[in-house]
Amino acid sequence: MKLAVVGSINMDMTVTAERIPLKGETLRADSISRIPGGKGANQAVAMARLGAEVEMFGCVGDDDNGKLLLKNLQGAGVRTDHVRVLEGVPTGLAMITVAENDNTIVVVPGANGKVDQAYVDSISGELGKYDMVVLQHEIPLETVIYTVKMCHEKKIPVVLNPAPAAAVPEEIVDMVTYLTPNEHEAVLIFGEQKDTEDMLRKYPEKLVITQGSRGVVTCLRSGEILRVPARMSEVADTTGAGDTLNGAFCVRICAGDDIRDALVYANTAAGLSTEKFGAQSGMPSAEEVERELGGKIG
Ligand code: RIB
Ligand code: NA
Repeated sequence: MKLAVVGSINMDMTVTAERIPLKGETLRADSISRIPGGKGANQAVAMARLGAEVEMFGCVGDDDNGKLLLKNLQGAGVRTDHVRVLEGVPTGLAMITVAENDNTIVVVPGANGKVDQAYVDSISGELGKYDMVVLQHEIPLETVIYTVKMCHEKKIPVVLNPAPAAAVPEEIVDMVTYLTPNEHEAVLIFGEQKDTEDMLRKYPEKLVITQGSRGVVTCLRSGEILRVPARMSEVADTTGAGDTLNGAFCVRICAGDDIRDALVYANTAAGLSTEKFGAQSGMPSAEEVERELGGKIG
């Protein structure tokens, strides 16, 4: 399995506090840490941990964070040969507060904001070598749209995880192989008035809606609505759980699983990841997921 991620690479500045601060409130943090993150990089690492061959495409700045993040990706077994290091641009940064089994995130795009069409043109030959291209919404939306169209032309399967929330043109929904919004992102894409099951029925085995601690839901080609409950976890940090879910889902789809098996596996991986602090630090290996599922997966 060879997967490519075109997406964001962030340094996460994560503080833990007793609770999420209210508007205008100042709180004292219990701790602060600098940990590798970014939805793109997180998904790449999740896939590599699960045994896939993965390449990360994107941009970092020519600063310490950029260097650390590239090293971190390489250490996780993710190829970074085509990540561009931009002069005079800061590496992407996320300010995260973790509290009460939940988090808030404010992202400063930095170099991620410079992942443009010219960059995608420069890697188009490379993308053709992969079984699947995985995208999120932490690079400019025009770039996401451009990449989806390019992959569609080249007949490369695409998974679009439309996070953070931003509307996606219907034409793009039609072109991607899988679209994996959470409930909030789904409303933004399909509109408030749409019933979840109606949305799912319109895009069987394409639209997968994640529902946090309630699990995931999709519609099978038979018309059956498939709900896969989340794994019960002792939650330490949910940061990156969605990224683990997406990464694991992509790996299992590429391995030939049907959507049900892929979602059961992905949910288990995501559940395991929430038991440890940090986005990438808690991502499970294939062995850990398999042990949890109680058997060997093909
Ligand atoms: O999905 C979690 C990620 O979102 C964090 O690692 C942070 O970088 C933000 O981009
Ligand atoms: Na975690």
